[in-house]
Amino acid sequence: MKKLFLACLLIPALIVQSQEINIIPEPVSVRQPRIHASFYLNVGTQIISESSGLENSISYLNDYLYRFYHFKLTPTSIASRNNVIHLNVKQMINTVPGAYIMSVREDGITITGNSPDGVFYGIQSLLQMLPVPGAAYRLPVAYCEIIDYPRFPYRGMHLDCGRHFFNVDFIKKYIDFIALHKMNYFHWHLTDDQGWRIEIKKYPRLTQIGAWRNGTIIGRYPGNGNDSIHYGGYYTQEQIKEIVKYAADRYITVIPEIEMPGHASAALASYPFLGCTKGPYQVQQTWGVFDDVFCAGNDSTYKFLDDVLDEVMALFPSKYIHIGGDECPKTRWKTCPICQKRIRTEKLRDEHALQSYFIHRIEKYVNSKGRMIIGWDEILEGGLAPNATVMSWRGEQGGIDAARQNHDVIMTPGDWCYFDHSQSEHEDSITIGGYLPLNKVYNYEPVPDSLIPDQAKHILGAQGNVWTEYMSNDRKVEYMIFPRMSALSEVLWSSKRTRNWDNFEKKLLIQFKRYDLWNANYSRAYFELKTSVLPSKNYNGVLWKIENKFNKRMFMKFAGIDSSWGYTEPQLIQKSCVAIGNFNLDNRVVEVSQVFHFNKATGKKITLTYEPYKNYYGDGAFTLVNGIQNDKGMARPSEMLGFLGTDCEAVIDLGKPESISNVTVHTLKDIASWIWPPKYVEVFSSPDGLNFTSLKKSEDFKTSNGMNGTITVNFPLTNTRFVKVLAKNQGVIQAGNPGAGYDSWLFEDEIEVN
Ligand code: ACM
Ligand code: ZN
Repeated sequence: MKKLFLACLLIPALIVQSQEINIIPEPVSVRQPRIHASFYLNVGTQIISESSGLENSISYLNDYLYRFYHFKLTPTSIASRNNVIHLNVKQMINTVPGAYIMSVREDGITITGNSPDGVFYGIQSLLQMLPVPGAAYRLPVAYCEIIDYPRFPYRGMHLDCGRHFFNVDFIKKYIDFIALHKMNYFHWHLTDDQGWRIEIKKYPRLTQIGAWRNGTIIGRYPGNGNDSIHYGGYYTQEQIKEIVKYAADRYITVIPEIEMPGHASAALASYPFLGCTKGPYQVQQTWGVFDDVFCAGNDSTYKFLDDVLDEVMALFPSKYIHIGGDECPKTRWKTCPICQKRIRTEKLRDEHALQSYFIHRIEKYVNSKGRMIIGWDEILEGGLAPNATVMSWRGEQGGIDAARQNHDVIMTPGDWCYFDHSQSEHEDSITIGGYLPLNKVYNYEPVPDSLIPDQAKHILGAQGNVWTEYMSNDRKVEYMIFPRMSALSEVLWSSKRTRNWDNFEKKLLIQFKRYDLWNANYSRAYFELKTSVLPSKNYNGVLWKIENKFNKRMFMKFAGIDSSWGYTEPQLIQKSCVAIGNFNLDNRVVEVSQVFHFNKATGKKITLTYEPYKNYYGDGAFTLVNGIQNDKGMARPSEMLGFLGTDCEAVIDLGKPESISNVTVHTLKDIASWIWPPKYVEVFSSPDGLNFTSLKKSEDFKTSNGMNGTITVNFPLTNTRFVKVLAKNQGVIQAGNPGAGYDSWLFEDEIEVN
């Protein structure tokens, strides 16, 4: 019985005689002998360290082997001639930190790093040459010669522990994910409006009060109520030391972020003297940007922050300390006598200059302790602090401007690096919005073309940002980072020459098995059917097109009906329904469904008087009559048209005279993002599409789900062939609102005519 069990375990190892090499991130150079063959790693393999300081690499390898393959290697000081892994450090000329070479031959494996972290990265490559799944005692490692080194010195992942708290075990798991991708920075966002997460001995209320909130909004902002659940947590200084060491053992630097002067509600709730109005304040229970920020006039604010930073710098050996700097409203400062006095005494131009004064003053303190600050790109406003590194998040422009001023830059532009955005067009879980699919991350180029080489050298690298408003548990974080983090690792490590999407796609199928091995959740959006809705030639419905990237035969059916059929061409849809498409991949059914809502306008000929804004163009005018109602706000940008400062005026040709009595326009409202519902919707009729008669106007906006809502215009039964629907833009945003003085956005996703 026992023998049989062992034989079963051995089979996977024996049948995989020569493996392809599937390392992510792709090494700079991999050579394999013409005849594929493998060295077999087994419990008898010895490991010898020929240089000092490689204990971390050996224990990482052994922990991984033990965890996933259930055996360990024996470290030795005198190796036999065969079946040995040699590790050593040699100063190699002309190589960057982290470089290594690895050779796998008949007698064993040699990994030479130009420093101990190079050896560690070589070990990571070795781990990725092992078979997955892994329960075997003889692990084939293909013969090869690898030469490898990183493209960028900064390869980072961020995690927001303010919006949601993640325990120490998960932080360690996250750090391991970073290590497995040859990344080297963990940006730990520790304070925000919704929670202060780091113990500060001098200010105990920060964690007694600031680490806890009395509830959290339910659903997508602005939410459907509050769960009233006391929520929070924080890291003790002992736990932080443990995590910093855990990361350092993996050649990862932890950069703490202490947010200032904005995103400070949790600190203010703990110590109200820190705010302009002196409170009372609360640890926030909803998401967004809040007017109450640190008072920038009061010396006691700076004393408090210096004290906090003293304890932070004692815990984190990182050269960089992140001080936030983003999204700081100036509302309170404008009316605070102390802030206004500071503006006068320091001869500052305005409140923006006061923010710059604030950051300069903090930088001076941090520099005096031998450290450097990193700030979000808002720290450019009013003049950069002299030694600051800029983290460019509102696009790349902040990074470009900083590099041109000879400041170092870390790129984290939202469109490519925000892993809180949806990665599927059919995302079911709540996300903050946006759409950042895997291939877009993969194709990101951190060095903008517009920089000359002397400026480009300031781009230290890039980072994936993980804001956790809509990630309340570990599994959701994993789901959001994988596989996008694997794509980013290749952007940051691999040479531009070796980065290749087709090759990455091939490796991805193995990488998914690795996630399973690591017990990491991940998004399956990559496998998903791509769907699109097209106009039908005769305006007699809409066409639903489905595609898969694996050339698999697809099937279709309608919900509620048992029969399905092979899909050959776009399916004509002529009434409200739920259409379902699927295909079979590795014995798993990959399925997608689409709800269609039909009305008299669906699929009909439509024209627009004004063009939508280029970034929110959807499928042009047809988007408004394609039968798809967007119920996910900005998470579905492809299903909406956006108008900046202009009206949305559409003329629909119903094809023949029809009796109609109401029109409903589906729009969005998110005042914080400058998105306003129409001022009103007006409906017109016309027999010929030339001369229109107004039927009725309505301003009655009704919220339906989160930021989605509708305006319905009712009018007496009217017979008409042409319908004109004017959704009036609110125009310039009024004082007292976010974006005051700027044009407002109008978003429209569907017009119903009934
Ligand atoms: C940010 O996303 N507010 C830096
Ligand atoms: Zn103030």
